[in-house]
Amino acid sequence: MRLLVRNGTLVTEQGLIAADLLCADGRIRALVDRGEPQPADEHVDATGQLVFPGFIDPHVHSRDPGSTHKETFAHSTLGALCGGTTTVLEMPNAIPAVTDVATFESRRREHAGRAWVDFGLWGMALGPANLHEVVRLHRAGAVAVKFFWGYALDKETKGLVYDFAAAPPDSLLLPPENGEVLEMFREVASYGGVLAAHCEDRHILARSAELLGHPIETYDDLLLARPAVAEATSIAVGAQFARVTGCRFHVVHMASAAGARVVREARAAGAPVTAETCPQYLTLTDRDAERLGPAIKVYPPVRSQADQDALWAAVNDGTISSVGSDHAPHLVEEKMLGFGSAPAGGLGVETLAPLMVDAMARGRISATRLAEVLSTSTAKLYGLWPRKGTIRPGADADLTLVDPSGSCHISNDRMHALNPVTTWDGWNLRGRVTASVLGGAPAMKDSEPVGERRGRFVAADHDGRRT
Ligand code: NCD
Ligand code: ZN
Repeated sequence: MRLLVRNGTLVTEQGLIAADLLCADGRIRALVDRGEPQPADEHVDATGQLVFPGFIDPHVHSRDPGSTHKETFAHSTLGALCGGTTTVLEMPNAIPAVTDVATFESRRREHAGRAWVDFGLWGMALGPANLHEVVRLHRAGAVAVKFFWGYALDKETKGLVYDFAAAPPDSLLLPPENGEVLEMFREVASYGGVLAAHCEDRHILARSAELLGHPIETYDDLLLARPAVAEATSIAVGAQFARVTGCRFHVVHMASAAGARVVREARAAGAPVTAETCPQYLTLTDRDAERLGPAIKVYPPVRSQADQDALWAAVNDGTISSVGSDHAPHLVEEKMLGFGSAPAGGLGVETLAPLMVDAMARGRISATRLAEVLSTSTAKLYGLWPRKGTIRPGADADLTLVDPSGSCHISNDRMHALNPVTTWDGWNLRGRVTASVLGGAPAMKDSEPVGERRGRFVAADHDGRRT
């Protein structure tokens, strides 16, 4: 099957190019002169549109299996597709968690028939409890391993415990001590993998909550109980470990100016540290808490306007190289339990691209930087480039089409999630994701799927690659 994408402006690693794009057998075949006749079975008209390498969401918690009352992989990948994302990287903290290869393989099999977009899988790093399993996860094609620093896990299920002060201590698996964390960095460095972490220092969290002197009631209480210094401290420790071991260390969902400062300094000093942030940290602040209530609660928390501004600066100066959604659904009833008791997380996979396109249309980020943080740099980090993340011959023909002068409206009625309640309900956005191509065939148009569900598993290949 040959597909010709006509009259668009391609966002390539060499900049914007006005050209047609010929795809054949699932791959990009050639960039050709606009209007030059090409034999093709199908055409996509991209007049007036930017054609991006297919967007990748590296941070999706689909709750499947284990908590399929919250979300399923079919729902989250359909949301991804309709929002303009063509590959998702599924986080390991479903139940059972992906802490060994047997679980990795069964997750891969279960998800294969359900995926509306291509998908990769994360592994989970526990510390001593699976120290020698992480290399096997890497060899099986895991994009990276994630270490949930700052969480306690349920001993039995390895599920996250959102409020570990309230849980019976003997049911908990606490995060390992720093010596063991250093050992884990050494292990991941030994095979050239990527160790990503949820960075919040649990001792600072625990003591800050105690010092509050009463249970968390307001959003200000929540911010006092989870101060930015908890994030910055964990990042600083991780950065030191990265530096001495050579392990590639990636900070997921970075939420604070203090964190961004530490990452910038560590990178300047040559440490192999990269960072991700998410649309919630780039579009919301603590001032939205009154309007949104506990729906705004995510870990690490959304902070001040100054934090938001610092994160945008970090996205644009390269300190942050990847933007993911941290799609982490819960039931509405659970989210209504209040700022203290509600579990952390909210929808995101379907709104990732629209919110970032809106930022581009408002001049906060250029088209070429958007392509990097939503596709190219993400693909490089997770061992998917140059198969994904680039418009060049030989790459998978995954494309996201954007009309920069269009507009779109976000509403709960149009969300494809199992529990379709989004933080951005009612927002009017500039720019519009109009269509996508997956594996060389049209996959989405006007926020609805086109054709069959045909997402495939993609294994990471980290050999010889560094970002
Ligand atoms: C995530 C979840 O619920 O799985 N929640 C969140 O607030 N970010 C876990 C995580 O990524 O920390
Ligand atoms: Zn996390």
